[in-house]
Amino acid sequence: MKLTCNFSIKKIVLSIKTNPFRVQNSERVFKITGKMQDVQTQEDLYKIVDEFYKKLFADERISSIFTEVIPIHEKLEEHLQILVTFWSQAILGTGGYFNNLTQIHLDVNLKSHLSKELFEIWLTHFEAAIDENFKGFNCERMKNMAHNLSTIMQIKIAQQKEQ
Ligand code: HEM
Repeated sequence: MKLTCNFSIKKIVLSIKTNPFRVQNSERVFKITGKMQDVQTQEDLYKIVDEFYKKLFADERISSIFTEVIPIHEKLEEHLQILVTFWSQAILGTGGYFNNLTQIHLDVNLKSHLSKELFEIWLTHFEAAIDENFKGFNCERMKNMAHNLSTIMQIKIAQQKEQ
């Protein structure tokens, strides 16, 4: 009885030592194993929003919103941290995001119209930033949520136009 018990404790300790997910972040596991991991940490989320904004800034169809309408590039690190907090609350269940996301985008829309085409470009880059780096359930949740929020924002923008 004692032997079995000791054996199973050893097995658990061994599995903790050899399980890379317990000690490595997803990006490092990908580099070591070549296998894409799911989004699991705020570091993972930072990687996604960082890659995503590189894509937005590089695409001249949408970049002026982030450089001229709202000059995000001047306070990019601060902005990326806000995005991490937002996605961390939504996907990892942490707290800390209290802003009114729809109102923020309605305010942007008043300065420069956020068209259906711009939302499509935004979503394409967002999905690519996820799919190029991670794979799994949380990735699907993030993409679904972005699509849903995009739809809600576009409905609110259409209502704002009518007023
Ligand atoms: C046409 C598509 C979009 C454009 C051009 C756009 C542009 C922007 C801009 C310029 C800001 C900064 C606003 C400011 O600091 O005053 C912002 C913030 C943000 N956007 Fe978008 N956005 C789009 C769609 C979306 C969608 C679909 C989501 C869904 C997740 C989203 C999530 C966020 C978040 C989380 C912030 C940070 C808000 C905060 O400061 O609290 N955006 N966006």
